[in-house]
Amino acid sequence: MANEVKQTVMHMGYEEGKKQERIPDPCIVVIFGASGDLTKRKLLPALYHLKQEGMLPESFAVVGVARRDISATFSADMEDGILKGGGVDESDVDLKPFMENVKYFTTSFDDDAGFEKLKNFLAEIDKKVGTKGNRLFYLAVAPEYFADITDRLGKHGMTKATLPGQWMHVIIEKPFGTDLASARKLNDEINRVLNEDQIFRIDHYLGKETVQNILVFRFGNGIFEPIWNRNYIDHVEITAAECIGIEGRGPFYESAGALRDVLQNHVMEVLSFVAMEPPDSFESSAVRTEKLKVWHAIDPIEVEDTVRGQYGPGRVDGEKVIGYREEDRVDSESETETFVAMRLQIENWRWAGVPIYIRAGKRLAKRVTEVTVVFKQPPMHMFKSNDTKQVKPNVLKMRIQPDEGISLTFGAKVPGPTTNVMPVEMHFSYAENFGKSSANGYERLLLDAMLGDGTLFAHRDGVEATWALMTPILEAWAKRPPSDFPNYEAGSWGPAAADALMKRDRRKWHKL
Ligand code: BG6
Repeated sequence: MANEVKQTVMHMGYEEGKKQERIPDPCIVVIFGASGDLTKRKLLPALYHLKQEGMLPESFAVVGVARRDISATFSADMEDGILKGGGVDESDVDLKPFMENVKYFTTSFDDDAGFEKLKNFLAEIDKKVGTKGNRLFYLAVAPEYFADITDRLGKHGMTKATLPGQWMHVIIEKPFGTDLASARKLNDEINRVLNEDQIFRIDHYLGKETVQNILVFRFGNGIFEPIWNRNYIDHVEITAAECIGIEGRGPFYESAGALRDVLQNHVMEVLSFVAMEPPDSFESSAVRTEKLKVWHAIDPIEVEDTVRGQYGPGRVDGEKVIGYREEDRVDSESETETFVAMRLQIENWRWAGVPIYIRAGKRLAKRVTEVTVVFKQPPMHMFKSNDTKQVKPNVLKMRIQPDEGISLTFGAKVPGPTTNVMPVEMHFSYAENFGKSSANGYERLLLDAMLGDGTLFAHRDGVEATWALMTPILEAWAKRPPSDFPNYEAGSWGPAAADALMKRDRRKWHKL
C-alpha cells in the first residue's frame, strides 16, 4: 500500500513536469544531409514525438535538404523512419497532418543559386504556414561541409534576423574537429558567420534522461552532495561499453578511433556532470562555466596512464564476429584503436587525490554505459568476526543505459547468531518508476535548440578544453605505434593492459 502511494505521487510529479509549457515560436527546421540515416532514424521520429506530445508550435514545418534528388521517395522514407524509429503503431496513427509540412529541397552545398532558391522556398513556407522567418538549421552532414554551409547561409542572409524577435539557430553534429587545432579552426570558421548563442553543438549523450539525471541526483537532493568529494569518495569509474562493432563505418572509424569517437565528447561530458560544482542556476552559461572548470582542472594526462586496444575476432552474444582489421574498408594493418582507457586526476578542492578511470570501446562483452562511484571504507572494521573480504565499500552506480537506473550497495547484517556483513543493493529503475520512455534523446535537444536554450549543448570553449586534454595523447600515440594490435578478443572486456592500469592502484574495474 505504502509503495502504491509512493508510486502515485511520483507519477503525478512526472506528469506535471511534462506539462510545463516550453513551446517554441513558429519555425521551420531545415535539415542539411536529409538523405542520411540520422534524419530518418532519429530526427523525424523525434520531431513527430514532439508534435504528438503537443510540444511543437501550431505553425511548424520541416525541410530536408540534400545534394541528391530523392524527392520521389523522401516522404515515404521519412514515414517509414517515424513508424520504425518512433515505436509508432501504423494502424494507430495518421501521419498525414504531420507529413503535410515535411518538404524536400535539393541543392549542392556550394551552389549559391541553390541557396538563393532555398531562401525563397523557406520564405514561401513562412507565408503559407506562418512560420515567421524563424529557422533551426540542422547540419547532419560530414564536418568538411560545416563551414561551406554556414558561409552560404550567411551570404544569402539566412543567419540574421530581419524582424524583431526572429531567430536563426544552427545545430551541428559531431565531430567538432579531430584535435585541438582543427577544432579551433572549425570554431573560427563558424563563428565568422554565427554568434556563439546561435550555435548548438549536439552531443546526443546530453539528450539522454539518465545523463541529465546525474545533475538532478546531485543537486536536486540534499543527501548526496555533502559526501560527493575526496573525503568520502575513493574513486570514480566511467564506462561506455558497446557490443557493436563499427557497423560498416570503416572509413570514418579509421580516421577517428575510440578516443575521438566517444571519449573526447560523450565520456568527457558525462564526467563533467559527475564532477562539476553546483552551478548558480540551471542556466546555460552557469552550467557551462562549471563544466569548463572541471576540464580545466584535469591534470595533463600522461601517456602511461592511457591504454589503447583493438579487437580481434571473437564471439559477441554467442555469435562469431570478425576482428577490426577484417572489417569492410579497414586497413588490414590498421593501428586505429577501438578501445581506450585512462586514469585522470582532477586537481581541485573537491577531487584532489581521487583517481577517475574512464574507458570506452567497441565489441566488448556487454552494451553498458555506467558511472560507478566507489566510496571509502569506514575508518575501522568493527565487525572483526567477519570474513574481511565480505566488507565491501559502498558503491553508487548510475546506469546510463540500458536498464537505466541508480543503485547503491551497502553492507547489511546477515540474519543469524553471528555478525556477518553482506553487501546488498537498493535500486531505482527508470522503467519501473516512469514506464518505458519512447524518447530517443533528440527530442529534448531539438526542442531546446528551438527555444534557444544551450544548457545541454557543447560550447566552443568546452570543445577546445577537452581537445586540449586529448590532443597530447593522440600525438604521443602517433609517435609510438601499437605493436600488439589486435590486443583484445571481441566479446571480452578489453585489453589486459586496462586491468593492469587499475591493478597498479590496487583496484579493479567494477563488474557491469
Ligand atoms: C556515436 C558514435 O557518437 O555514439 C558511435 O559515433 C557510437 O560510434 C554511439 O556507437 C554510441 O551512442 P549510444 O547512444 O548508442 O551509446
